[in-house]
Amino acid sequence: MVLVTGGAGYIGSHTCISLIEAGYDLVVFDNFCNSSRESLKRVEKIVGRKINFFEGDIRSSEDLDGVFKAFEIDSVIHFAGLKAVGESVAEPVMYYDNNVSGTVKLCEAMNKHKCKKIVFSSSATVYGDPHTTPIKEDFPLSATNPYGRSKLFIEEILRDIFVSDSEWKIVLLRYFNPVGAHKSGTIGEDPNGIPNNLMPYIAQTAVGKLECLSVFGGDYDTEDGTGVRDYIHVVDLADGHVKALNIINKLENVLTVNLGTGNGYSVLDMVKAFEKASGKTVNYKIAPRRAGDIAKCYADPSYALEQLGWSAKLGVDEMCEDSWRWQSNNPEGYTA
Ligand code: NAD
Ligand code: UD1
Repeated sequence: MVLVTGGAGYIGSHTCISLIEAGYDLVVFDNFCNSSRESLKRVEKIVGRKINFFEGDIRSSEDLDGVFKAFEIDSVIHFAGLKAVGESVAEPVMYYDNNVSGTVKLCEAMNKHKCKKIVFSSSATVYGDPHTTPIKEDFPLSATNPYGRSKLFIEEILRDIFVSDSEWKIVLLRYFNPVGAHKSGTIGEDPNGIPNNLMPYIAQTAVGKLECLSVFGGDYDTEDGTGVRDYIHVVDLADGHVKALNIINKLENVLTVNLGTGNGYSVLDMVKAFEKASGKTVNYKIAPRRAGDIAKCYADPSYALEQLGWSAKLGVDEMCEDSWRWQSNNPEGYTA
């Protein structure tokens, strides 16, 4: 059985579907600090069966003991964490406590219950401001905010654990920019308040909840002057986790891979693609650059293909169509 921490969240809920479709049994462990029970109910509808669920906090050894005792857990996919960059600058202790201390507690519980296989959600943010693109896994690492540092620290902690005990099987997945939603249009990204990330902002503008997208910077050294990113469909990303679990037993070292498409799209490319997919106009204005942003970030995904047999299948049109289906069917997210 696979323990999916943070499985009620955006990427976790999609990954539960892919795992079940691939024949894995799983139990979701979540404290709902950034998600709702409703997402799991909808996952159950999609897969047509009940999902094992344990409410708990990864910072609580008691909660973790509870889930390890209640289920026979063989491996862990570890999504649970806080992810808002701006909030991490304002509340660093909360971020280090939740993300870093929480992961340490999880590893303690795993050791105790002799479960030594983990797939961890890292991020392309660990490359800082890359000297060139596309980004390969061996590029220098750095971080400019507590969220990014929490990811870097966790990567290092997991590498240290492997050095101390080579029975551990560890996969570090560095996601580029996850977007899109399940084809059903019933689950998707449901950010609290005004979104920080581009796609939900565009989607809420198209649906009429927000008035105008501020494009952060029109003077970058890119084709149209706006920032370039590697947007990856969340269903492709979910599949990357299944592929990681499929090969985890064979690992002889910590495996670190980029999950991206290898294609870079600018902010204005995404606005145009979303307008095409939704048939709506997305009002935007060029605004000052956002502090901490970089011009270009996209993956070299060839190592993922070599090591996991994984590559992204869905393009930017599907990302926008699926994101629009979710947004237009659920303008208030899961709360409606
Ligand atoms: P999300 O907020 O939708 O999901 C995270 C889930 O973890 C939520 O359900 C939340 O309730 C749960 N959680 C948080 N702290 C917890 C705790 N202490 N105990 C138990 N549950 C807890 O985020 P997401 O977008 O699905 O991201 C999942 C993971 O992927 C995170 O670790 C995130 O940092 C990482 N990641 C996300 C992105 C992205 O753009 N979405 C990019 C790179 C990496
Ligand atoms: C952000 C996080 C990063 C995290 C990643 C994946 C920051 C600074 N970085 O990256 O740590 O790993 O999400 O979730 O938050 N944009 C606009 N207007 C908006 C929002 C965004 O123009 O309202 C632009 C940004 O300047 C950027 C692009 O859209 O060029 C993508 O932004 P966003 O979705 O926030 O992702 P990243 O900044 O790449």
